[in-house]
Amino acid sequence: MKVRDIIEKACHENILTKDEIKLLLMAEGEDKNLLFKTADMVRKEHVGDEVFLRGLIEFSSYCKNDCFYCGLRKSNSQAQRYRMQEDEIVEVAKRAYQMGYRTVVLQSGEDMFYTKDRMCSIIKKIKQNVDVAITLSIGERSYDEYKAFKDAGADRFLMRFETSNEKLYRQYHPGMSFEKRIECLKWLKSLGYELGTGFLIGLPGQTIDDLAQDILLVKELDADMIGIGPFIPHPQTPLKDAKEGSVDLTLKSIAILRLLIPDANIPATTALGTLDPLGRQKGLMCGANIVMPNVNHLKYKLKYELYPGKICINEDATKCRGCIESIIVSLGRKVGQGKGQSRHYKRAA
Ligand code: SAM
Ligand code: SF4
Ligand code: FES
Repeated sequence: MKVRDIIEKACHENILTKDEIKLLLMAEGEDKNLLFKTADMVRKEHVGDEVFLRGLIEFSSYCKNDCFYCGLRKSNSQAQRYRMQEDEIVEVAKRAYQMGYRTVVLQSGEDMFYTKDRMCSIIKKIKQNVDVAITLSIGERSYDEYKAFKDAGADRFLMRFETSNEKLYRQYHPGMSFEKRIECLKWLKSLGYELGTGFLIGLPGQTIDDLAQDILLVKELDADMIGIGPFIPHPQTPLKDAKEGSVDLTLKSIAILRLLIPDANIPATTALGTLDPLGRQKGLMCGANIVMPNVNHLKYKLKYELYPGKICINEDATKCRGCIESIIVSLGRKVGQGKGQSRHYKRAA
């Protein structure tokens, strides 16, 4: 089958076989251009020209896990750890609202200091103070906790499965299990969260076959939001000498998923912007419709080091807001107004 026919099939049927996805991932030249152009058209048709901004608040750099790729892993004794107090988190959320954000993403390592009650209290206080959607990105918890967070007012949850290759998953996530990860994602969906998931591009040992499987798993989980980012080696982790993930494969994965879930929200990730100075722009031009600028205080931004060289690390939140708006406008797009709920979620509800 020709790449052109596969793209057409994806547009009409929103499903592809693994082999078809592999051919798209390997597309070059005119074929690749067609993939990106089609994904951009599908994005425009299904989610419009608005680019929604999410204010990211990284509230704790403690983590009980030891993911091989991540600078926050518990074995990294050189990592700088901090925990923000409840009032401080609420204050940053209020500041984000004043800057125009209508969604805040509360992200952290897996830090059990934030018990069910503490998290619920943070969620409720934010909701009492400002009219924002709350996305949680805090990793694996029990069903009861997820339910309590939802009842407290959390709207969305982001948790990547990272890789669908179970052998690689085991290798890079000591003490964790792929099965558990998927179970958590299914719980979140059943509880009515707007569900975000996705994977890392370029983990050592990952093949094109694996990536195609990752794409199929996002489709199978029926994600409302899709987070795909290139792996970037961190010097204080076991993967320090590995090669970074491919920007090109990241863009192709974004484009393919735009064709398979046309009304999902897809961010152009910070990691993409870190590996390529124009990475976020490129992402927005091949299917993405979300950007997640960090709105936290500089003193914390510097300490939340998942990987080195993160963009915006020395920039004040107000500067990033202006910068990102000018990027969006330069692409002929506009900044989204309102909370920017995933249309995929809305349609299913
Ligand atoms: N602890 C929560 C979790 O794992 O879901 C949320 C925070 S975690 C830091 C957010 C994401 O960062 C992970 O899903 C992972 O894909 C990404 N990440 C971690 N280390 C990375 C690296 N070295 N390069 C690129 N992305 C990385
Ligand atoms: Fe912890 Fe998340 Fe980093 Fe894994 S990716 S070490 S769970 S912060
Ligand atoms: Fe942070 Fe451009 S978005 S400096």
